[in-house]
Amino acid sequence: MEKHNETKTGAFLSPDEIKRQLTAADRVRLRFASQGKVGENAPGYYILTFGCQQNEADSERLGGLCVSMGYRRVETMEEADLILVNTCAIREHAEKKALSIIGSCKHLREKNPGLLVGIGGCMVTQKHRADKLKNSYPYVTFTFDTGAVHLLPTLVAEALSGGKRQFIHSETYEIAEGIPLDRTSKHMAWLSVMYGCNNFCSYCIVPYVRGRERSRRMEDILAEAKMLIADGAKDIILLGQNVNSYGKDLAVSENDPDFSDVVRAVCALDGDFRLRFMTSHPKDASDRLISAIADCPKVARHFHLPVQSGSDEILRRMNRKYTSAHYKSLIDRLKAAVPDISITSDIIVGFPGETEEDFEATLDMLRYVQYDMIFSFIYSPRPGTPAAEMENQIPHEVSTARFERLLALQNEISRQRNERFLGKTLRVLVEGISKNDENMLTGRGDPVRPIHFAGSRDLIGQFAEVEIEKITPFTLEGKLV
Ligand code: 5AD
Ligand code: SF4
Repeated sequence: MEKHNETKTGAFLSPDEIKRQLTAADRVRLRFASQGKVGENAPGYYILTFGCQQNEADSERLGGLCVSMGYRRVETMEEADLILVNTCAIREHAEKKALSIIGSCKHLREKNPGLLVGIGGCMVTQKHRADKLKNSYPYVTFTFDTGAVHLLPTLVAEALSGGKRQFIHSETYEIAEGIPLDRTSKHMAWLSVMYGCNNFCSYCIVPYVRGRERSRRMEDILAEAKMLIADGAKDIILLGQNVNSYGKDLAVSENDPDFSDVVRAVCALDGDFRLRFMTSHPKDASDRLISAIADCPKVARHFHLPVQSGSDEILRRMNRKYTSAHYKSLIDRLKAAVPDISITSDIIVGFPGETEEDFEATLDMLRYVQYDMIFSFIYSPRPGTPAAEMENQIPHEVSTARFERLLALQNEISRQRNERFLGKTLRVLVEGISKNDENMLTGRGDPVRPIHFAGSRDLIGQFAEVEIEKITPFTLEGKLV
């Protein structure tokens, strides 16, 4: 079994270190300016992001650093002078996809010898993966782990000056405040409230690649929220691997803020916006948070509460630290407090030792909760996690057959759940033009389903009222009112 270092947690990165990086960024910008590489001639940067919202949020910070170095965002890898791949390690498939894209940088580098290729994110935070890139991918200029996002300017500056290839492996994971953002959506915004995870679910690589839980200060969160609202954000998503742990690492007394206080404080800010949050762990999801959803109209009537499995034995071996009865009682309290709530979940199929009965218990959980939607995954062994060492790994054909049964049941539940919207008018944030029909707009209401309707493109980025006329398991369709 591969040995992972226990990740130490620092607190906040010193403002001097951030200043040092922004000064390095300035130097890169001046260098480009002296070569006439400004405006339309500015070198291009392209970031490819795999994985979860936390990676999306990190990529916006990487983009912000690129802009401060004088790069401009380009739409294709071919146009780029700096390619960054922000990788994911949650399942084997994500790693394979990233490695294949990284492989395709070889011929781009042959065409453009000045091209810099930097690889960050969860995959390269595992040392064996960074070593592999170092030894077998000579066109990779540098790698940087999840604790080293802020180091991008010095990595680029040194590479441009002909320095050696670098492979950064952080000793500590600290919170870096004051990094600029290059936001990729005008109306949707990520807002990290905490980083890392202490839970060590037995299947999950995240605690090994994102370090221990650390919370941002409330004043920093609120300052960023105000900036996002002023910048046009209408859909703000509070992020953390386990948002309900917010504040536990900062708290000195019981009166210190918890996550429900963050929700209330952000909602109290001026502006017309919708607030979502993810992800909550059922063992920590609190009644205080349920009350905050019920009390604050700006909070979406949506709760993503991953159950992973409906079987108590599997939950125990997953180290989830709750039972199916606890989860159900939480759902009951949530539905009682917020009757129109949409509940979504993550489910893992084929965890080691999962019997037919265990799997049936998961199907029963779907029937009990009546999720609007689930994100389901076939278990993928992650080297270094306890579950990868467990006996009775489930054959792929068995997992795939269960996965299909899970989807069939959920599709039926989703369709029935969507029926409640027929004839109702929903408040929708208009996100863009529908991918399937360019005469239609698409947007989202409080439930997470895409909603399609005809309307003027001027509405993109605004809230609109849409009466629902048609449903499928996956989408809603309607007309503007
Ligand atoms: N295999 C399959 N799914 C996984 N997840 C996390 N680790 C694994 C794994 N090893 C799923 C969990 C989690 C979601 C983000 O990814 O369901 O909630
Ligand atoms: Fe992984 Fe569990 Fe932490 Fe979620 S709570 S990131 S599943 S270890």
